[in-house]
Amino acid sequence: MSSVAVLTTALESSFRGRFGGAGEARIALAPGRVNLIGEHTDYNDGWVLPMAIERYVGLAYRPRPDCRIVAHARAFEETVELDLVSPAGDCEASWKAYVAGMAWTMVAAGLELTGIDCVIDGDVPLGAGLASSAALEMATARALCDAADIDWSPRRMARLGQEAETRWVGVACGVMDQLTSACGQPGSALLLDCRSRRTEPVPLPDEAAVVVMDTGARRTLAGSAYNERRASCQRAVRGLRRLDPEVAALRDVDRKLLEAARDSLDDLTFRRALHVVEENLRPVAMAAALRDGDLELAGRLMNDSHGSLRDLYEVSGPELDRMTGLARNHPACYGARLTGAGFGGCGVALVAADQAEIFAEDVRRSYVAESGLPAELFTCRAVGGARLHGNALGAAPAPKA
Ligand code: GLA
Repeated sequence: MSSVAVLTTALESSFRGRFGGAGEARIALAPGRVNLIGEHTDYNDGWVLPMAIERYVGLAYRPRPDCRIVAHARAFEETVELDLVSPAGDCEASWKAYVAGMAWTMVAAGLELTGIDCVIDGDVPLGAGLASSAALEMATARALCDAADIDWSPRRMARLGQEAETRWVGVACGVMDQLTSACGQPGSALLLDCRSRRTEPVPLPDEAAVVVMDTGARRTLAGSAYNERRASCQRAVRGLRRLDPEVAALRDVDRKLLEAARDSLDDLTFRRALHVVEENLRPVAMAAALRDGDLELAGRLMNDSHGSLRDLYEVSGPELDRMTGLARNHPACYGARLTGAGFGGCGVALVAADQAEIFAEDVRRSYVAESGLPAELFTCRAVGGARLHGNALGAAPAPKA
């Protein structure tokens, strides 16, 4: 059975057990993502190059005649009940906040939702840098739109998901994860301009495989470190505006302007900004390298990105450095870096497709022997964005009876 079949079967039977009448349950699926390059650039209006992966958060759901959501998360064996019309102040930063925050943000945007009963499950590892939160938001949005007969608008829902996370979870994230989960393209990474929110598919060459490397180390994003990085970027922009009032975000800054402002920025702010300014050039360069089939160059860009995240932005850690170092030393590897916010979680490697399995096994074995932590390495292919199950193209579902 495919992993999607395993997930949807589990969702259906759990929904039946909890709410009865399984025949009527529908299923919405939204993928996690791996970011190939362009890290901590999205909230600086910059470029990123992620792809949606074949790991999903799924919701089995059925509309209710009232305005309540009853949601059960299999992973936590917890249930929450919430009212669509009366947002309940602060939510604890758990899965509940993503579901409730998404629903309340959709209502605040003027969408007329109806309540649902739902069961949630998924195979995106939690807190691993593979955007399980965005996948949960987009699966929730996909289900709520379907239940209320609202046309699915992936870009709008991605923006509302980002708003929900900022407002209800307290993470001032960028829009990369939600856009990728909503707009993923089979077989391609997405070159995404986070200012215009335009996406361009970048097909992955057949000779290359993308391997996700889970270090087994976890750290929650809601922690202060992510917001603190974002605050340094804003501080840098305020300093740079004194030299050039046109600067709206670090996206508008080049190395020359940053050097000119060096004396007016403290050292930490300068280093954070330097990472963003240089990292922002890499997604476009890597997209060109992938299109040209220049895997050596694509890999070098990934290695440079990791170095910058480690030394300038300081969001790596011993496990991520160890895993990506082992990967880089393997003959099948073109390049490796941390992916997602950092502070633990996953790395990503670009490797020769015909050696991907040997690579994954060799690196896993060495990493486990050195760190004593459990590690999971898997090759992933790029998939489409959030969809209703049984409707792989993401087209409108059949009209309801
Ligand atoms: C998290 C956030 C994204 C992005 C990355 C870092 O995944 O949700 O918006 O900022 O970190 O690139």
